[in-house]
Amino acid sequence: MSDPVTYERDGDIAVITINNPPVNALGQTVRSGLMAALDRFEAEPDAQAALILGAGRLFIGGADISEFGRPPRAPKLGAVIDRVAALRRPVICAIQGAALGGGLELALGCHYRLAIPGARLGLPEVTLGIIPGAGGTQRVPRLTGIAAALDMIPAGGSVTAERAVELGLADRLGPEGEDPRAAGVAYARDLVDQGAEPRPVDALPCPAPDADAVAQARATWRAKAPFEVARLAAIDAVEAASHLPIAEGLTEERRIFDEMMQTPQRAGLIHAFFSERKVAKLPELDGVPPREVAHLGVIGGGTMGSGIATAALLSGLRVTLIERDMAAADKAAATIARNLEGAVKRGKLDAGLRDRVLSDALRTATEYDALAGVDLAIEAVFEDMEVKRHVFAELDRVLRPGAVIATNTSYLDVSALAATTSRPADVIGLHFFSPAHVMKLLEVVVPDTTAPEVTATGFALARKLGKVAVRAGVCDGFIGNRILSAYRAAADRMVFAGASPYQVDRAVRAFGWPMGPYEMADMAGLDIGYATRQRKAATRDPRDIVPTWADALHHLGRHGQKSGRGYYIYENGRKGEEDPEVLDLVETARTEQGVTPRSFDDAEIQRRYMAALINEAACVLEDGIARRPLDIDVTFLYGYGFPRWRGGPMHWADAEGLAGLLRDIESWSEEDAFFWQPAPLLRRLVTENRDFASLNE
Ligand code: 3HC
Ligand code: NAI
Repeated sequence: MSDPVTYERDGDIAVITINNPPVNALGQTVRSGLMAALDRFEAEPDAQAALILGAGRLFIGGADISEFGRPPRAPKLGAVIDRVAALRRPVICAIQGAALGGGLELALGCHYRLAIPGARLGLPEVTLGIIPGAGGTQRVPRLTGIAAALDMIPAGGSVTAERAVELGLADRLGPEGEDPRAAGVAYARDLVDQGAEPRPVDALPCPAPDADAVAQARATWRAKAPFEVARLAAIDAVEAASHLPIAEGLTEERRIFDEMMQTPQRAGLIHAFFSERKVAKLPELDGVPPREVAHLGVIGGGTMGSGIATAALLSGLRVTLIERDMAAADKAAATIARNLEGAVKRGKLDAGLRDRVLSDALRTATEYDALAGVDLAIEAVFEDMEVKRHVFAELDRVLRPGAVIATNTSYLDVSALAATTSRPADVIGLHFFSPAHVMKLLEVVVPDTTAPEVTATGFALARKLGKVAVRAGVCDGFIGNRILSAYRAAADRMVFAGASPYQVDRAVRAFGWPMGPYEMADMAGLDIGYATRQRKAATRDPRDIVPTWADALHHLGRHGQKSGRGYYIYENGRKGEEDPEVLDLVETARTEQGVTPRSFDDAEIQRRYMAALINEAACVLEDGIARRPLDIDVTFLYGYGFPRWRGGPMHWADAEGLAGLLRDIESWSEEDAFFWQPAPLLRRLVTENRDFASLNE
């Protein structure tokens, strides 16, 4: 392996290069390599200045996150940076690509900073549950003032090279496209020629206090991220910069940083960071090239089809959309145009490009022959096996050999659909979530017959669309919706036994979910839940509990938000009011079935809700529907709004303790043995004293 830090001379400039792919993270070997390089620089008095560079496409992606949670190893990053700042000859850095976290902090230890257009400079630490720990909270406000520092640090944000120069974070904008070494050496020579002195940020005075900006930042982050501790802690650290001398400020920052490092939120957020990067790494796809997808066919332009088409158009794909008749096709095109207009309004799409996309990249048709040239066709027609079979037969007829046939079905058997074609190896499920141009999750549902390069194509398409893909096996509901139906059933059981739907929603939100199950049902439409119950009625076990009050709501035409009334009454926008009539319907159901209601506290509601989720997730793992617990975590983070600071449900379960969860499930099974059947995998893990994380390896 090559040296992670090299020291060379370019005439009278010492060039120190960090070469630690893929992101030049500041791990222990880099930190000690930097110390050794600084020793050499100090020992060579004819070196007039030092230039610090990052090799490759970016300067430095930050501290090495994989070291967090382990005992720190010397030298600490803060010590390296303090030493750079204190050097008696000028130190310059040239930033290309990104200077993030500890990378920006190292840059702030340098005396002069050059930023090359295209680079982003930022402090994303709070997104990992910590605060900048190597001077960022003290040095950024000394350069930019408190208000600008508070715009960036609690948000975990970054700025462009141009903005960094405006803010004073960088001193010079490098020539566009220039090699950072050439630009950096030229800058260093200019400085040497001008007789420039070292100019440490630490010598700057404290930034002026800004009580309004601090109060505003606290209010914003209490509202936006009420559960997260690191964002508010970061505000405390920035505020400290305005009254503490640099050395004390750095000590205070370090104290808060160390405190954050110990929080479960840090562990959860870092688990999420690594899981979302591991999720696409599957041994079966190693070295398997995906097929090229530039032209997408979409069949059915309703809610999902028009969303999928929008996502594809926004990512530069061509789309041909098939509907039943021209009126439906025009309606779909209008929906897509509206979606794109939304992207223009949010600044994500240029208005001129929007017009070109609509005129050149989107085609609608009613005849399948229009799909002859597509690379992948995805159907999003009604959730009905017969309708889908017909669509698949047409696709099999018209698609060119090697084109991928995909279904967006929510529940139907993808293997059975594949078997209806002459090319089952080309068939896959691509389960988008609604709205498909917004939601990040894509379940790639893989029947046994699917060719590996078709699975690879599903993952590659997800990447192109900016989605996070998770591999799922074929079963009713795949990973997410199968598990959802279990914890939703747990909620219904609690309502039946005495909790109100509103109490359940409140308790679930207090856990950190964005929504409770009944608010979610209202959003999705109560007709969907009703249709699902009807579909399952024939195979339902007599011991199962049916939420007859939900059927009653459906029969009353209360379909949720879209009809203005469901579990909640929607009169003023999307926030619903509680409805006493719903409580009457629930009470009637209890009376009819002889249930005497009992009370639940929020903790019990949360515990049962989560235990049902974890127990079903363990079954999903045992059945091979999800390969690893991290696949379930990512599914819930990106498709169901599971609070990221809890890492994911499986990470939560490990932290909570599997033995305790199993004990609770066993005790509840004494009252309801049908529903609370402990998953064999959960039992096995507890017996073997293992956790879900051990299955990720
Ligand atoms: N430490 C360790 N590994 C890291 C890392 C880091 N800071 N940043 C990225 N990696 C790893 C990823 O896990 C991935 O590994 P893999 O190939 O084995 O899966 C690999 O580097 C490439 O990462 P990406 O796929 O994310 O690469 P991209 O090119 O898409 O993005 C990036 C590059 C923008 C730098 C992105 O990786 C990123 O955002 N990284 C995290 C940045 C960050 O949060 N830095 C702050 C760290 S905390 C800190 O600095 C504390 C300090 O204040 C003391
Ligand atoms: P939808 O009812 O909004 O749209 C279906 C569209 O398909 C209609 O526009 C209809 O005209 C068209 N269509 C029906 N038969 C057709 C045919 N033979 N040829 C061409 N077009 C035809 O339904 P929605 O909600 O978009 O669902 C579509 C599929 O996506 C279903 O399989 C559903 O289970 C699945 N899905 C739905 C989600 C949702 O939240 N709505 C989420 C994920 C998947």
